This record gives sequence, structure tokens and C-alpha cells, in this order.
Amino acid sequence: MADGAIDPQDLGERLVGAGADEVERAAEAALRPKKLDDFVGQRVVRDQLSLVLQASIGRDTAPDHVLLSGPPGLGKTTLAMIIAAELGTSLRVTSGPAIQHAGDLAAVLSSLEEGEVLFIDEIHRLARPAEELLYVAMEDFRVDVVVGKGAGASAIPLTLPPFTVVGATTRSGLLPAPLRDRFGFTGHLDFYEADELERVILRSAGLLGVDIRHEAAHEIAGRSRGTPRIANRLLRRVRDWAQVRGDGVLDLRAARAALEVYEVDPIGLDRLDRAVLTALCRRFGGGPVGLTTLAMTVGEESDTVETVAEPYLVREGLVARTPRGRVATAAAWEHLGIEPPAGTWAAPAPTTGGGTGATSRTLFDEA
Ligand SMILES: Nc1ncnc2c1ncn2[C@@H]1O[C@H](COP(=O)(O)OP(=O)(O)O)[C@@H](O)[C@H]1O
Ligand SMILES: [Mg+2]
Repeated sequence: MADGAIDPQDLGERLVGAGADEVERAAEAALRPKKLDDFVGQRVVRDQLSLVLQASIGRDTAPDHVLLSGPPGLGKTTLAMIIAAELGTSLRVTSGPAIQHAGDLAAVLSSLEEGEVLFIDEIHRLARPAEELLYVAMEDFRVDVVVGKGAGASAIPLTLPPFTVVGATTRSGLLPAPLRDRFGFTGHLDFYEADELERVILRSAGLLGVDIRHEAAHEIAGRSRGTPRIANRLLRRVRDWAQVRGDGVLDLRAARAALEVYEVDPIGLDRLDRAVLTALCRRFGGGPVGLTTLAMTVGEESDTVETVAEPYLVREGLVARTPRGRVATAAAWEHLGIEPPAGTWAAPAPTTGGGTGATSRTLFDEA
């Protein structure tokens, strides 16, 4: 990514989206922790994984297959790379959508060398035949290679050297049980606490060689939706601002001003989130209103509203999903600074700031 001026192209549709495009992946590569000790937060997963890896190193065998699950941008790919690095082996990377046919997977598997780590991103999107081939490979270290065609075709079993599959998924619920069972260790990544994100930001700032104040890191962390990827992205935008309009130092003023330019509000909502929330409150008196109607009002596809804006609004306890439609909670009215009209349905605000409000969580789980 080019240093310097705030490039409107760079604004992207979603500064606070958790996904990453090609350009961003390059920027991210420089910031990825390379060792487990440098991986911030996720203490439980880190501890467990550290044991798995150390034990396997001690026994001089490939560790059990590892499944990493959790929302985008929380560090699954980073952990996969760390696993290979800690084992002192190489990482082979593929993904569910990249494997069209079982044959593609057979080719990858049969080229693996002893002890290598095979990273399968978005593993829940593997096609069924490939999935079945993977069961056998993971359990018996064997792959059946089909030779010949039609009636004369036969399967020759090929023994594979020991290797480790690291699977990543944003939708562990979609993973068929037999596949899930073949992972000896599953790590669930959860959203980061603000102080952890602050550490991610300070670390990244160090790597980028920028001068940042603690208050600025704190401010950016609070707007990063619990997600390191977003934290790093906002950091880069604040750096741009400080360079072009400030004195190069990332202080609180720079952080606030930059995030205002990019329309990321104090709790990390962007324009689309606020448009949805405002429509829900102002146009529909807080709901309930159907998703399609709501999406039409803000001029977006239902799909976009449902997958992009809604999850965070629900997680933060601003919006609740009910069988009759979407409703604004008391916290939503409060956030927009409007008085709810009398008689509106207003759910209680979340108990803590962390978005684990009982109301939203329960409704979310039922959905
Ligand atoms: N625990 C962490 N500590 C420091 N940086 C992290 C951490 N988790 C993620 N990151 C950073 O966030 C970005 C996205 O992480 P990534 O592993 O690609 O997420 P995922 O694969 O889960 O979508 C990377 O640039 C990475 O450096
Ligand atoms: Mg990833």
C-alpha cells in the first residue's frame, strides 16, 4: 500500500469490514506475528496450542490436526502460519473454494512432504467428494489415486507421510460432524478485548515505525469491533491523517480527526451501520420491520445488510432479531441520541460494553 495521502480509493466501501482484499493482504503480511509468543490475546487458545505443539516436537511426530474457528480477521491464518513456523516446517496453503474436484485435493495431498502443514482455509466450503477424500487422508494417511477411465478405472491406494491439517472456518456450525471429529484440537477464536487490541495496535505501530501515543491506540482500539484486522486498518488510516494533516505523530487528536474523516464512529459503526440504525429508529419507529424493507430503505441489498451490518449491530446489543422483524433496542436510541417514542419496544441495553448483552445473544443464538 502506498504511503502518504489519503486515497479515496482506499476508503473502500467498508473501512470497518472484517474481510481483506488483495492489497490489504500484502499490508497485513508485514504485521503478522511470526511466533506464538508474539500473538496477542486469545490466551486459552494460545496455551492449548502451545502444549499441542511442544508435545509433538518432544515426540518428534506431526501434531494432531488443528481446527481454528471464529469470525474473520481474528487471526486464523496468522495462527496457521505460526504453527508451521513453530514446528520448523513449511506451510502449504489452499482453501475450500479453491478445491473444485476431489482430484485437486488428491494432487495436493500426494505432494505433501513429511511433517508439512496443510492449511485449508474456509474448510466448510469444501465440496463433498473432496471432503470424503480428506477424511481418509487425515485418519489413515492414505489417498486413493484413480488411474484409467470408465470401466477400466481402478483406485490405487497411496500412503502419505505424516502431516498436519490446519483447517480454518468462520462457520464451524456448517462443518459436518465426521470432518469436525477428525481434528484432534479445535481452537475457537473470540473477539478481542479493547486492551488486547490496544496491544495489537502498539505492536503494529512499532513495526510500521510510527510514533503513537497510548491514548490514540486506546481510541482506535475502541472503534475496531474486537477485530485485529480492523484495528490494523484504522491504524493505517490514522497514520495517513497524521502524515498529511498533522505532524506525523499519532496522538488522540489525529486518531479522532482521522476516524471522523472516515466516518467510523466512537463504537466502530460506519455509515452503513448508522444508516440501518437510523432508518430502523426514525422511519420505522424502532421496528419491528422486515429485513427486506429495511434494506430497501437504505438502498442496499438485503444480503449486504444481513451479513455486513447486522451481525455487529446485534452483537453490540443495538438491534435485536425477533420473529416479527428487526427491532431497535434502548441502546440504539441512546446511541443515536434520540428519544424513543412512547410505547416503542425497547430491549434492555447490554449488561457490559463487550457486546455480550443477554438479550442480543439469546435472540442471536435462536436465529
Ligand atoms: N493475536 C494477534 N496479534 C497480533 N496481530 C493479529 C492477531 N490476530 C490477527 N492479527 C492481525 O490481523 C490481521 C488479520 O489476521 P488473519 O490471521 O488474517 O485473520 P483471519 O485469518 O482469522 O481472517 C493480520 O494482519 C494479523 O497480523
Ligand atoms: Mg484468513
